[in-house]
Amino acid sequence: MIKRLIAYFKNYKLPAILCPVLMFFEVLGDVAMPMLMALIVNRVSDAKDFTNADIYYILKVGGFMVLVALGAMFCGAFSSFLASTASMGAGAELREDLFKKIQTFSFSNIDYFSVPSLITRMTTDVNNLQQTGMMCLRMLVRSPFMFLFALVMSLSIHTELACIFLIAIPILAVAIILIMKTVHPRFMAFHERIDDLNTSVQENLTNIRVVKSFVREKHEKEKFKKANDTLTNTGINAVKIVIMNMPIMQLIMYVCILAIIFFGGRIVVDTTLGRIAEEVGLKAGDLLSFITYVSQILTSLMMLSMLFLQFTRARASGQRVLEVLDTEVDIKDPINPIAEVSDGSIIFEDVSFRYKTRCADDILSNINLSIKSGETIGIIGSTGSAKTTLVQLIPRLYDVTKGTVKVGGRDVKEYGLEALHDSVAMVLQKNTLFSGTIRENMKWGNPTAADEEIIEACKQAQAWDFISKTPDGLDSKVSQGGANFSGGQKQRLCIARALLKKPKIIILDDSTSAVDTATDAKIRETFAKELKGITTIIIAQRINSIAHADRIVVMDEGQISAVGTHEELMQFSEIYKEVYTSQQEGVISQ
Ligand SMILES: Nc1ncnc2c1ncn2[C@@H]1O[C@H](COP(=O)(O)OP(=O)(O)OP(=O)(O)O)[C@@H](O)[C@H]1O
Ligand SMILES: [Mg+2]
Repeated sequence: MIKRLIAYFKNYKLPAILCPVLMFFEVLGDVAMPMLMALIVNRVSDAKDFTNADIYYILKVGGFMVLVALGAMFCGAFSSFLASTASMGAGAELREDLFKKIQTFSFSNIDYFSVPSLITRMTTDVNNLQQTGMMCLRMLVRSPFMFLFALVMSLSIHTELACIFLIAIPILAVAIILIMKTVHPRFMAFHERIDDLNTSVQENLTNIRVVKSFVREKHEKEKFKKANDTLTNTGINAVKIVIMNMPIMQLIMYVCILAIIFFGGRIVVDTTLGRIAEEVGLKAGDLLSFITYVSQILTSLMMLSMLFLQFTRARASGQRVLEVLDTEVDIKDPINPIAEVSDGSIIFEDVSFRYKTRCADDILSNINLSIKSGETIGIIGSTGSAKTTLVQLIPRLYDVTKGTVKVGGRDVKEYGLEALHDSVAMVLQKNTLFSGTIRENMKWGNPTAADEEIIEACKQAQAWDFISKTPDGLDSKVSQGGANFSGGQKQRLCIARALLKKPKIIILDDSTSAVDTATDAKIRETFAKELKGITTIIIAQRINSIAHADRIVVMDEGQISAVGTHEELMQFSEIYKEVYTSQQEGVISQ
């Protein structure tokens, strides 16, 4: 995992290498400071009476200290800048890769992850990795070198006194390992809760109109509060272990410093009084620098432990990001794809289907249906009878679980996806327009379409009437999701967009449900007159919308219950008759 993530730094090699190098010099400066300070203190405490030579010496060393401090500051600041440049750049590339991968996802891939989770992975998780990258670039060099240099320096000052580390460091190591082990699963859980929170927010915001119209704000607030509280608790659960890191480290550090002052102080007194020889003794300045080295050693260990903690967090994020990148896209082009769909015929051969996210029973079972090119087929059935599921198999939005779906006489799996999607236009039940202008939205159907073609398609879909009445015509603004159009207008725009593809098969999934009956009839008329060669599949709740079809398929609980013309079904299909009678009653009672 680490190797794959590091690969994202390949375009940022220079800053990624220069940063640790500069950091190395900063460490040198930091480590040199206590030594220089000791020189001054020792000179002062040794001096019997202060001479000009002493003052000159102090000024010289002091001046040198200023230079070293400035140099270290420059190195530190510049290396931080380089670390940010490299990790931000690498993070951006990672995000781009994720986005590209998600664009190749099939519907069932997206069902598996869920949209909010994909968003969290692209934002929070990538940010986490970015931050870890930045910390690594700076700390991974700084801390070990600081630790080593300070250790060597303190050993060279007084070996026996340095033995205190022999006790302190193992205790620290055990504490860090224990903390890390406990924290990882808690961070994993934390990220899942962020997903939950995002799901709640996204669902609320995208459907804010529904929320308001049903006066569900209170319920939504409670739902959000629940997700928010759970996230907070999971966060606290993880962080309370992390924050233990700090006091443990500080406790060990202060105990060490106390021990050093206690033992070191005695040695200094003994040396000054001449009880022990100077070579094995310790001067006041040395003790001072020794203490600074101790804090450097322990701080660097503390930094390392923070880095390890960040690692455990990043590990959770890394796994989540790579899970997306490693997902096998289940619907992709075959090895030798067929580039052209020959005609608009459709055959379902013994087709069964179930959604992967629900391991329950088959949603569709044993579907056999043959549709001739150019035929108009109506599909009717109660909600949840799998009408949408059935037609989604034609443009291969999902793959069948059993059996074959053939378009133009060939298995849909043999086509290149682009060729198939170009020939099969589907107006989804939950249709969407994108922010931009009407013209831009129409060009989704055909990027090179001229205005005349767009207008023609809009006329066929009965959308031109209302577009031509707007002052801006095709340049009218479409807000996000098409919220500034009525339901019926949106549906007609979506039909026009599909028609612009000049498909061989067009599927209208409940696409005229919000259109008034007169306009619906006009759309049907145009389709019958002008789109003769195109196989048309119309899913509708109103029998009127499909009564004219060449054949009507009646769906019931994932199976085809009857197929025939309106007249035939009125004779043979109980379900169809029932629906017809209930709808007629509705009309009469009106
Ligand atoms: N993405 C999905 N993941 C899991 N189950 C799904 C998914 N989409 C639909 N289902 C389930 O499949 C069944 C059939 O749904 P489908 O949308 O095909 O019905 P439909 O006949 O189109 O209904 P409607 O008339 O309300 O549009 C339902 O029980 C539904 O819960
Ligand atoms: Mg449906």
